Amino acid sequence: MTQPNKTQKNGYQNSPFLTHGLNRAGLFAVALLAGCLMSGTTLANEQIARDQQCFKCHAIDSKKKAPSFRTIAQRSDASEIKDVVRNGITSLFGQEKMPANRRISESDLNALTQWILAQ
Ligand code: HEC
Repeated sequence: MTQPNKTQKNGYQNSPFLTHGLNRAGLFAVALLAGCLMSGTTLANEQIARDQQCFKCHAIDSKKKAPSFRTIAQRSDASEIKDVVRNGITSLFGQEKMPANRRISESDLNALTQWILAQ
């Protein structure tokens, strides 16, 4: 391609979105998609835990306010985990220890439970 004349050059500068701007956004989208596909479902399920604020009190492999997900995975099975996450744990004195999550969808709850068990 020959050098664009002055008018064409201004044209490019005035519409970055229609020229390389769009290409860059497109490349970025492809890279992002590839990244998601490669990392598989682990990341997606961890994202549910993040979205549900589980990491405020739990960590994957160290005790915070609550037992680590690794400890939980060792001593609990799927139905126990699902029950606790859905209904929470309240102490005898009515103090909420593990908050209930009534609004989490069944499929997110299943994915989250499988993710915890895999830690
Ligand atoms: C406000 C703090 C807090 C948040 C947020 C929280 N938890 Fe908990 N969780 C706790 C505490 C504290 C316990 C321990 C309760 C006990 O054993 O008395 C617990 C216990 C649990 C247990 C049972 C562990 C066992 O004893 O086997 C599971 C499973 C669990 N949490 C999963 C989750 C998940 C998943 C999320 C996100 C949806 C979450 N928690 C969010 C505080 C929290």
